[in-house]
Amino acid sequence: MADWNPALYRRYEDQRTRPAHELLARVPLISPARVVDLGCGPGNSTELLRQRFPDAELLGVDNSEAMLASARKRLPQVAFVHGDIAAWVPARPPDLIYANAALQWVPAHETLVPRLFDLLAPGGVLAIQMPDNQQEPTHRLMRELAGEPAWREYLADAARARAELLGAAGYYDLLARQAASVDLWHTTYHHVMDSAHAIVEWVQGTGLRPFVDPLPPALAASYLAEYGARIAAAYPPRADGRRLLAYPRLFIVACKSK
Ligand SMILES: C[S@@+](CC[C@H](N)C(=O)[O-])C[C@H]1O[C@@H](n2cnc3c(N)ncnc32)[C@H](O)[C@@H]1O
Repeated sequence: MADWNPALYRRYEDQRTRPAHELLARVPLISPARVVDLGCGPGNSTELLRQRFPDAELLGVDNSEAMLASARKRLPQVAFVHGDIAAWVPARPPDLIYANAALQWVPAHETLVPRLFDLLAPGGVLAIQMPDNQQEPTHRLMRELAGEPAWREYLADAARARAELLGAAGYYDLLARQAASVDLWHTTYHHVMDSAHAIVEWVQGTGLRPFVDPLPPALAASYLAEYGARIAAAYPPRADGRRLLAYPRLFIVACKSK
C-alpha cells in the first residue's frame, strides 16, 4: 500500500482531533514521567499530549515515514520513532500509553490490548480511541464496490486491513481482571460536511486507502467515481445543502493499580 498522505489527513484535522481531546480529558494522571503516542500520525494527537504534560518524556511511534516527517516538522522538540505497534516494546515502562485512531489498523486485539496494558508502569493508564464505523455507509459502500466485477480481482484483501473491533464488553472482559478501573464510552459525532465530495476526501485520507491503492489508475478512477455517486445518495443534502457524516467512535481508558 502507498504511504499515508499527511496533507490529505490534516485537511479534516479539527474534526479528527476532537476525539483525541475527549479521550485525553478522561486520563486521570497529573504529571506522568513517560508518555507514548502510538500511531502518532502527523503529530496532532502528540501536540495535545505535549500541552497537557509539558514535563513528561514524550515519544511518538508510527510506521509511516511520511507521517513521522510531518510530526517531526510540527514538534521538533519531541522524539518520534519508526515502529510497528504490533511488536512495539518500550525501553522503560510508560505511565501513559495513548493511541488515538490508530489501533483499528493493528490486528489481533485479543492479544494486543492486554499486551499494551502489561507494558505500563504501576499506576499507568492505557487510553484508546477507535472509529467504530465499519457498518456506516462510508465503509459498507467501500466493501460493496470491492466485491463488484470491475474491481474485485484487485481488492480481495482490502477489507482485512482494518482490525475487527471487539465491542465495549469485549474490551472490558480483556482488561477488567488486571485493571484497577476501566472507563468505556461510545460517541457518534455528526460532522457537518460541505459536500459529498468532502466525505469522499475525508475517507480517502484514511479508510479508503486499502481499497484505492491496489487499483491501477483507470480502475481507481472508476472506483472513486462510483463510490462518490453512492456516497452522494447515502448522505443526502440537509436543509442548507450540507451533508451530515455520522461517525461512531469507541473510547477506552484503563488504569493499572499502583
Ligand atoms: C488515523 S492516523 C491517527 C493519527 C493521530 N494519532 C490522530 O489522533 O489523528 C493512524 C496512524 O496510525 C499509524 N499506524 C497504523 N498502523 C500502525 C502500526 N501497525 N504501527 C505503527 N503505526 C501504525 C498510521 O501510519 C497513521 O499515522
